[in-house]
This record gives sequence, structure tokens and C-alpha cells, in this order.
Amino acid sequence: MIKLGVNIDHVATLRQARGEEFPNPIKAARAATEAGANGITIHLREDRRHIQDDDFRKLCPEFRLNLEMAPTEEMVSIATGTYEGIMPHSVCLVPERREELTTEGGLDALKNSIQLEKVVKQLKAKGIIVSIFIESDPWQIEGASRIGADYIEIHTGRYASLFLSGGKDLENELKRIEYGIKSAKKLGLKVNAGHGITKDNVGQIVKLGGVEELNIGFSIIARAIFVGLETAVREMKDAIKDAEKE
Ligand code: PXP
Repeated sequence: MIKLGVNIDHVATLRQARGEEFPNPIKAARAATEAGANGITIHLREDRRHIQDDDFRKLCPEFRLNLEMAPTEEMVSIATGTYEGIMPHSVCLVPERREELTTEGGLDALKNSIQLEKVVKQLKAKGIIVSIFIESDPWQIEGASRIGADYIEIHTGRYASLFLSGGKDLENELKRIEYGIKSAKKLGLKVNAGHGITKDNVGQIVKLGGVEELNIGFSIIARAIFVGLETAVREMKDAIKDAEKE
């Protein structure tokens, strides 16, 4: 079954909105895991707008933690053990711009290849699995392979936007993602996917086959307001399971 990584950034967004101690991302990670999440994902951003360093320190030892981070010296140092040697299970390298609301596009694996290759080496030297968040583009996928990434995470944001309108563009985007999955596998890369996935649009991605793990945050946390986090995670797991059966 495709694994589900639950991104809990927006639990921290809510906490930061009031500067309180709650809602507690650690408790959220426990609830998500009990409901069937296979891993927990957080994005430690340069501006610390949601997840804080202390969340990272507490989450790492308890969960199979995937750390999304920009490929900067500061982040590499945190991921490779600045805090009492604490390190994540995996890192997903993402682009970051301060003014963006969320990660808006994939990383450019071609333009930044020398710096990225260095970062990938530093992380892998510590036994951390490295993924790179990119568009489903053959050149980018080849770039990811060249810099030594273990995984690519395919950006599904465009698919998620087109899902609502349907039509030819949606079909083409799904084909583009499918082709990306196949090309990556041919190069020996493993494939994750994420961004903008909901329980309604997850099925078509699942049905493409070849994706190991989906990283999903916003829609699960938003749904949790109405049904609770455990139910929101279970609903997503069920949607994935149902699509796998079809
Ligand atoms: N994967 C990556 C690399 C991301 O940056 C994000 C957003 O933080 C996600 C997955 C999850 O996206 P969403 O919150 O839209 O589910």
C-alpha cells in the first residue's frame, strides 16, 4: 500500500497565530500515527513561521520524520545533528521564498546542481535518505539523479488545481506525472508525491502506480477541524486504499 506521510505544519501555524503552547504538534503527530500515518512530515522554514526548532528536536526521536528544508547551510547543519546529534529519517529538499504562502514550485535541480550535489552528499554521509521536490519534468528528473538523490517527490500542485476544472489539461498533467514516475524509476530513483492532495483528488494519483509515499498536509489538517485529526487521517488512508483496489 502507498504510504501516507502526514504534514503537520499547520498545527504549528495555528499555535503560532496566538503564541500559545497549543495545539501541540507532537500530540498531533501521535494522533496521526495512531490513525495510520506511516510517517510525519514537517517543513522547518527559514522564517520559522510554523514549525520551530524545538518541534524538530522533539519529533525526530519519536517518529519516522521527513524534514522538508531549503538546501541552505543552516538547514544542513540542523539536519545533520546540530541539536544533540538528532537527525531526521529523511530530508526533502525544497525551494523556499519568504513571501510565498506555500512551496510554490519544484526545486531547480539543473540550475543549482553543484550546490545541491554538495548538500545531498552531506546528508547522505549521515545516513539520511534524500529526496528532492521537483516538477515532473524529464530534465529535472535526470538532474535529480545526477546530484545523487535517493527519491524525487513529484510536485502535484498543478494537478490539484486542474482537478477542479477537469478536461484535457488535467489528462495531460496526469500523463506528465505518469511519465515522470516511469522515467525516474528507469534511472533508479524512488518516487514520492505531494502538494494540494485531497481525499477527492488522491485516487487518480494512486492509480498511476509507482508512487511510494504521498505527503499530505493542508487538506487533512483543514478536515480535522470538522471531524478530528484521527478521522481525517483515516479518511485519507481509506481513499488511498479504495483507489488501490480499483
Ligand atoms: N510536499 C512538499 C515538498 C511540500 O512542500 C508540501 C507543502 O508543505 C507538501 C508536500 C504538502 O502539501 P499540502 O499541504 O498542500 O498537502
